Amino acid sequence: MIMKVGVPPIKSQGIKTKLVPWIQSIVPSDFDGAWIEPFMGTGAVAFNVAPRRAILCDTNPHLVNFYSGVASGEITPEVVKEFLDREGKILLSKGEDHYYLVRDRFNSEHSPLDFLFLNRAGFNGMIRFNRKGGFNIPFCRKPQRFAQSYTTKIINQVSWVSKLIKMKEFTFKCQDFNKTIEEATPTDIIYCDPPYIGRHVDYYNGWDDSHERKLFNKLSDFKGRFILSTWHHNDYRENEYVKNLWSEHSVLTREHFYHVGGKEENRNPVMEALVTNFIATSTERRKESQAQYMLLEPAAKYCTVA
Ligand SMILES: C[S@@+](CC[C@H](N)C(=O)[O-])C[C@H]1O[C@@H](n2cnc3c(N)ncnc32)[C@H](O)[C@@H]1O
Repeated sequence: MIMKVGVPPIKSQGIKTKLVPWIQSIVPSDFDGAWIEPFMGTGAVAFNVAPRRAILCDTNPHLVNFYSGVASGEITPEVVKEFLDREGKILLSKGEDHYYLVRDRFNSEHSPLDFLFLNRAGFNGMIRFNRKGGFNIPFCRKPQRFAQSYTTKIINQVSWVSKLIKMKEFTFKCQDFNKTIEEATPTDIIYCDPPYIGRHVDYYNGWDDSHERKLFNKLSDFKGRFILSTWHHNDYRENEYVKNLWSEHSVLTREHFYHVGGKEENRNPVMEALVTNFIATSTERRKESQAQYMLLEPAAKYCTVA
């Protein structure tokens, strides 16, 4: 059966909705601890895996504040509806000036509802902060952005995550990945989706060689199981860190297309990787083939074992 993937109310350029079935398919069936995400982002992976217990962390306080507000009951589908109906009407009458007014307001007051508004009315649902920590995504140029159907979609997404968070034991924390990994216990599974090295950088997404090595050391020392998302190669280059560092563990790969704009020729194929410290066998049903690679296998750069 093809899995239906839920979409969270917050979007981002790094959201893993398309890869969720693949990630979910390798979660070991005997897993009974907490699902730990040091790089929660939009929460898309955890909300779909839907474990009994989850600890979701990120250094971006705006993501954490939004979901903490949902968890505390301060942000409900009703509150979101009232807010988006009101702000959407002003946007319709005042146009993009209102978007920039909300952006200035958010950058001084940091309201999680303004963050949602900007995230859903900004260009391509992107999240990006300038060097001073100010949100700087431009308007998507659709004053009728919050038409009823769009608002209803967002409210349903808030409703989905708020039901889930209430039903389960989910905790949200604003903290660095080092601390999150240190707090994990051997029965937990750590799922890591750090900023991809050599890619997009902003105020909350600085990621360099020292971060990657620290993460590698921390995860390699972890006594429980981990899953790491990273990129393996694209048409132009390969991820040296997979070859030189992560291949000490198991590496699963599959192709994924990132869309830049709507044109077919702008589909950028990237080989995505999942690194694990356990032997993972994916049961996901899809067209592309999957292979599990291990280091030091003879006769090939990597050797398919599953
Ligand atoms: C690729 S995104 C995660 C995307 C997520 N899996 C999803 O589906 O939405 C990486 C996240 O790591 C966070 N981050 C960057 N550096 C961090 C650090 N040192 N510690 C914790 N989180 C960090 C960013 O704020 C960002 O939300």
